Amino acid sequence: MALQIKSFEEYEEKYRKSVENPEAFWADIAEYFYWQKKWDKVLEWNFSEPKIEWFKGAKLNITENIFDRQLSKIGDKKAIIWEPNNPGEQEKNYTYRELYEKVCEFANGLRALGIQKGDRVCIYLPMIPELAVAVLACARIGAVHSVVFAGFSATALSDRVNDAQAKLVITADGLNRGAKQIPLKSVVDDALKNCTSVAHVIVYDCLGSAINKTDKDLSWEEVIQGQPKECPAESMDAEDMLFILYTSGSTGKPKGVVHTCGGYMVYTAYSFQNVYQYEPEDVYWCTADIGWITGHSYILYGPLLSGATSVMFEGIPTYPDAGRFWQVIDKYKVNQFLTAPTAIRSLMAYGEDYVKPYDLTSLKVIGTVGEPINSEAWHWYHELIGKGNCPVVDNWWQTETGGIMISGLGNFSPLKPTFAGYPLPGIQPALLNQDGSEITEADIEGYLCIKAPWPSMLRTTYGDHERCRVTYFSHYDGYYFTGDGAKRDKNGMYRIIGRIDDVINVSGHRFGTAEIENAINEDELVIESAVVGYPHPVKGQSIYAFVVCEHEVTETTDARKRILETVTREIGKIALPDKIQFVSGLPKTRSGKIMRRILRKVAEGDTANLGDTSTLLDPAVVDEIVKNAL
Ligand code: WT7
Repeated sequence: MALQIKSFEEYEEKYRKSVENPEAFWADIAEYFYWQKKWDKVLEWNFSEPKIEWFKGAKLNITENIFDRQLSKIGDKKAIIWEPNNPGEQEKNYTYRELYEKVCEFANGLRALGIQKGDRVCIYLPMIPELAVAVLACARIGAVHSVVFAGFSATALSDRVNDAQAKLVITADGLNRGAKQIPLKSVVDDALKNCTSVAHVIVYDCLGSAINKTDKDLSWEEVIQGQPKECPAESMDAEDMLFILYTSGSTGKPKGVVHTCGGYMVYTAYSFQNVYQYEPEDVYWCTADIGWITGHSYILYGPLLSGATSVMFEGIPTYPDAGRFWQVIDKYKVNQFLTAPTAIRSLMAYGEDYVKPYDLTSLKVIGTVGEPINSEAWHWYHELIGKGNCPVVDNWWQTETGGIMISGLGNFSPLKPTFAGYPLPGIQPALLNQDGSEITEADIEGYLCIKAPWPSMLRTTYGDHERCRVTYFSHYDGYYFTGDGAKRDKNGMYRIIGRIDDVINVSGHRFGTAEIENAINEDELVIESAVVGYPHPVKGQSIYAFVVCEHEVTETTDARKRILETVTREIGKIALPDKIQFVSGLPKTRSGKIMRRILRKVAEGDTANLGDTSTLLDPAVVDEIVKNAL
């Protein structure tokens, strides 16, 4: 593969070059792609506005780089292998040419509906091939896709549709999830009651179930009816928006992270090829959902730009049983596999018997992403799945970074369990003290920041540039602030500790405490609430809610049930608290600030060390909370 570094010595040399002369380094990598017009300038930037422009003046279309550039060489190669939820059902294969034709046909359908360059399209689909087609069709015509994970509720969906002012929503009647079927179209119907920007809804018939047809609805079939299988690619500026993806932060409202065409293309292909060391005959599988950034960058764009065969899986790790992942690896002789620590921990708990029946010897590189991996899970993964001879690449990155920032590369980076490792060439991390000075010593924890731009970094938060500046660029002058704490050992390897802001990572999904509190407070029983994360053996973190209600909550009141329903309605089941404790008040400072530190200790069961509570407005409240802790 053209962009691959092949040894640790080469890594070190490239890394040095990337710091000494970033523009030359990235220009060299960008040469690999097809540009309708080359850039005038590789990079212009400042982190104070922030303003970041990569490959300014260049023209391209990312789908021309996936398809047109590669079709004559790999038109007959499988681009996507789709494995259905139900193992008894037939898989589907799409060669690069077949996928290209599907994308073009649908892209033409979108154009016929009046969708133009720059229009926002919200995609709310299950993990079916049509999701890949819809995303790439938007990119083909320069429409900005905003994929919303199909587990989000109607309220969450309508917030995202409204924020982006989407003209179109693409959905399905429902989805398969293990033994269950879950409706989607009815959620869209609910959501759209509050959305005036949407002119059409395209519905793919996934389950063959009945839907309530509205006058905005069109079927997928109707949209592609009679459309040609070729579609001219829209010419995009390198800095034109490619997509928006909403993610949670420490404030209440999720923000639309904006990625642009040129830099995102360059970085996702570059990082994919280096971290996974993909070879032309390999089969690669990432188990993420395309509703999250991992699916965008490492099921679709990175692998497809590299001409890879990418497995797309509709199902879940435990259906029909906990051997499903290993069975699929065996079935397709998967060579590179990427999953999340939460899945590893949950499958580990089912025991080895689910792994043993399957041949996993095809594996060459196995990856983990989304949250810190604990030592036990790391070793289980390394020994039982990788048989001790596959490197575990621990990929640290974020929705905002667009691609993997710190990780081992293939089989030549030094491995250290629970350490993500070294930054990719082109990435300059720094650890900062609270006062903003850089930590140079080893083994000291600091705030993880990045001190120079990289091509796939976020450019703005949609519709609110100031929010982007304040969230990421105002904590420390001249640095991008990640929100994570990390340590660096004496050899320069990084270990990610976790979030240091009010963000909770549940099974690799990100929620702001304020976002969940806002949801809980929607219930009219509730006066106020405070949410914290606490360690959970499978999910990484779990949600603990302290809730103050209007009246005394007794066994017979359905307050608990109501709160769970409210969170399900406002965000989705994925954000449900595992523990809800009703309290008469929250511990607050005299200035009214909730002392989360104390609540975190209670949630962790560490009540012996609550620290100084004398500055509290009402110290008695703490005794009550401790006494009734769950
Ligand atoms: C946050 C980003 C980008 C992948 C999917 C999650 C945590 C991510 C790791 C890792 C430790 C990790 C961080 C980060 N995180 N990868 N390998 N080791 N922590 O994307 O939803 O944007 O969340 O996930 O806390 O800030 P996301």
